Amino acid sequence: MKRALPDLTIAPPVEGEKVTIVFHADGRQYDLPVLGGTHGPKVIDVRPLYAETGYFTYDPGFMSTASCDSAITFIDGERGILLHRGYPIEELAAHADFLEVCYLLLYGKLPTQSELKQFDDLIGHHTMVHEQFKRLFEGFRRDAHPMAVMVGTVGALSAFYHDKIDITDPEARMVATHRLIAKMPTICAMAFKYSLGQPFLYPRNGLGYASNFLRMAFGIPAQEYVVSPVLARAINRFLVLHADHEQNASTATVRIAGSSHANPYACVAAGITALWGPDHGGANEAVVNMLEEIGSKDRIPIYIKRAKDKSDPFRLTGFGHRVYKNYDPRAAILRESCHEVLAELGKNEEPLFALALELERIALDDDYFVQRKLFPNVDFYSGIMLRAIGFPKAMFPSLFALGRTIGWIAQWKEMIEAPDQHIARPRQRYTGHPIRPYLPLAER
Ligand code: CMC
Repeated sequence: MKRALPDLTIAPPVEGEKVTIVFHADGRQYDLPVLGGTHGPKVIDVRPLYAETGYFTYDPGFMSTASCDSAITFIDGERGILLHRGYPIEELAAHADFLEVCYLLLYGKLPTQSELKQFDDLIGHHTMVHEQFKRLFEGFRRDAHPMAVMVGTVGALSAFYHDKIDITDPEARMVATHRLIAKMPTICAMAFKYSLGQPFLYPRNGLGYASNFLRMAFGIPAQEYVVSPVLARAINRFLVLHADHEQNASTATVRIAGSSHANPYACVAAGITALWGPDHGGANEAVVNMLEEIGSKDRIPIYIKRAKDKSDPFRLTGFGHRVYKNYDPRAAILRESCHEVLAELGKNEEPLFALALELERIALDDDYFVQRKLFPNVDFYSGIMLRAIGFPKAMFPSLFALGRTIGWIAQWKEMIEAPDQHIARPRQRYTGHPIRPYLPLAER
């Protein structure tokens, strides 16, 4: 079936297009090359700038900086469009299995039936973790935040799977990639089980990625766990929606860590740490905390007022995005998922969901949010869905990490395989003390 696709501008490279910088002080002039891309704004190639002029560019927070070439994901934040390898997120979320999306992000094309079967078998080969690996968990307190456990255990994978860790070997890179995709659901479920004091369940291949994860998270050895197809579909969609998102803080962290040729498990552990913060992947947990604190619809105006008050650090978590200045397409899909999951579980009247819908309605009607183009982001509705399924709030960022692992590792691989790969080494504007002589202790 042919579907209408958004009309996106193609920005092909323009031979010889340059941007001229003029130094007004002495009239010096430099031409910098302009590079095109498939979609999105053109970029000014500032790489020769320092060597030719002695100036750095200054862009803390990367407001106007493209840090790499990437062929994986495209976002048009003004129009709320997200594409993976050219495919709109809405289509992937509606039709694709998460492993299909993993294949797409890694290999650049959708798999045929036999390619998908082969990929599924390959991933299945790696779903278990080393028996010794379980002992790591015992070192953590049961009430540790699951993200702390994830950082430690995922980083420790490098101590268990160092047989194929030579990142200059393409086959070793691919094996590490497959291991991460395969083992993350197992580790994530183990972190959850450990927090509950319940035994770990071995993976069961053949169930499907989302169903296998649900079984490892909620099953117990004493009885068979029957996976609800509606919940499996919701988790599959959640994972697809979190699979990749261009050069966000955690992905950029994975790329930077990997640029020193560190092993991929350590790089992904670094990504998990960056994801944890409440401004990034920790926002799904923070949204539910915020909704619980608001408590009832009549208290929404108090929190809207606080969010607008610059002297109050409170912000409406789950609202706003560095790139989207329109509705985050993932939030719209997750809002629908909430309806489906709550209906399946007989929780149509879930007060937190009603509160979130009302908060969205009031915020989107408020000049402050309208003028700043602050819309619900991916984290606004995801926690409500995960909570209804049975995950505690502290698990939400780990589920984000589970979905994002494929994005991290696909981007890591793309970075390592780039022909002009260099160690990432930003410079700075030094604002410290001017040069001064060392004073011996007795003279200070
Ligand atoms: N509530 C109230 N005001 C906000 C919010 C918010 N959630 N987000 C941005 N603003 C205001 C901000 O105060 C600023 O106002 P002004 O121009 O008057 O100074 C303006 O909007 C622009 O915000 P910014 O902080 O310059 O934007 P940023 O691109 O640096 O930050 C953000 C993006 C996501 C960190 C921010 O919107 C935020 O803190 N949102 C809440 C946390 C959140 O939901 N994070 C999840 C992000 S999406 C998923 C992910 O990345 O994992």
